[in-house]
Amino acid sequence: MDRVIESKGYIDLNYVPSKEELVCAFFVEPAKGISFETAVKKVASESSIGTWTDIDNLSHKLFEELSPKVFCIDKKKGIFRIAYSKQLFEEHNIAQIVSSVAGNIFGMKDLKSIRLLDIDFPESFVRHYSGPMYGVEGIRKILSVKDRPFVGAVVKPKIGLTEEQHSNIAFDSWVGGCDYVSDDENLTSMPYNNFEKRVKLTLKARDRAEKITGEKKAYLPNITAPYYEMVRRAEFVLAHGGEFVMVDFVTAGWSAIQALKDQDFRVILHGHRAMHAAFTRDPKHGISMLVLSKLCRLIGFDQLQVGGFAGRMSEDKDDVSRIGEVIEQKVVSEDIFKHRLQENWLKLKPTMAVCSGGLSPANVQPLIHALGRDILISFGGGVHGHPAGTIAGAKAARQAVDAEMLGIDPLEYAKTHLELSLALKKWKIKK
Ligand code: 3PG
Ligand code: MG
Repeated sequence: MDRVIESKGYIDLNYVPSKEELVCAFFVEPAKGISFETAVKKVASESSIGTWTDIDNLSHKLFEELSPKVFCIDKKKGIFRIAYSKQLFEEHNIAQIVSSVAGNIFGMKDLKSIRLLDIDFPESFVRHYSGPMYGVEGIRKILSVKDRPFVGAVVKPKIGLTEEQHSNIAFDSWVGGCDYVSDDENLTSMPYNNFEKRVKLTLKARDRAEKITGEKKAYLPNITAPYYEMVRRAEFVLAHGGEFVMVDFVTAGWSAIQALKDQDFRVILHGHRAMHAAFTRDPKHGISMLVLSKLCRLIGFDQLQVGGFAGRMSEDKDDVSRIGEVIEQKVVSEDIFKHRLQENWLKLKPTMAVCSGGLSPANVQPLIHALGRDILISFGGGVHGHPAGTIAGAKAARQAVDAEMLGIDPLEYAKTHLELSLALKKWKIKK
């Protein structure tokens, strides 16, 4: 058989991808002595049908049918796009898709660095997924909040409290004005804070807080665990009147969260992104948060932590607001200058963006200006670290949102709102 000389294929700058292909945008820095074209071909090959040498079993027919096409190269920026035939993928299998386009390529010797910037899924893929069960509208309906941003508190210290202490702090946060209270990413079921006991006590505290405030309140218990235990914990939450659950989606893994979602629990699913920065942080290597966010909307997270650029995490403001757009809009248009791809989400509901990580009431205005009102702003230290304690901290956070809704500058509003004023003395607004 005539062997396919792989290195002669893959690049076709006249190629126009069809709607039925999966398109990826990559950044690459070739290793010393490797040309950009060679690096690009190696990525196309390793992420699809190729290997490190030519082989007998790859026929010309197979190569013609399945080899992806690099159709766009911007050498100056180090960016290129590849169109992959959908035959290379199992459509309802995120783990397989990620193993292909974000798998072996990250370790290749010929590349100094490589980053998967974006994915555009073919429409037939999008049709295979149910997306969020509730989405932004469903969440607003359940919590009876028409158009303001939501305010949340993450119980702190993240770990070490008893079930009673946890539920008391949750109660104070709700009574002070928070809509949400959530467990932290590393609080699951501990010898001193058992999942079932915590959920029961905290949901009771939620009911009391609802009675006192006349507002609907949400509790996000962290169900992250081995898969069958996650299912059991989600069932437990539902059986005890909970309406929300939280999962650390990176550490739990794509396959587990896809399977959890396929259970069709009538529960609002919140995605915590702990560990994402291990591969999203380096701008030249890894996988972008944008890609993770698209996968999360496809799978069906109703709300997703996307960062808060103003806080303690290393994030770019434009990136965070773009992710907000991508998970909340119906159709996303391509931005050639940023090398971002389009997405038509068809019937998939929008996922609500959650801002979190080192935020305080001082960050509320810039976050709303950048991401709009369909967000949950979540505070740990920014509520519980208030000089007058948790209840005052929750009041201050809510007042910061109220100020924005009324169109009043937060510093002006603080003149007549003590809690906000104390918060803004401790955490300064950066102009
Ligand atoms: C989170 O997991 O999002 C954080 O625990 C928020 O806490 P922080 O506001 O104190 O950073
Ligand atoms: Mg946390």
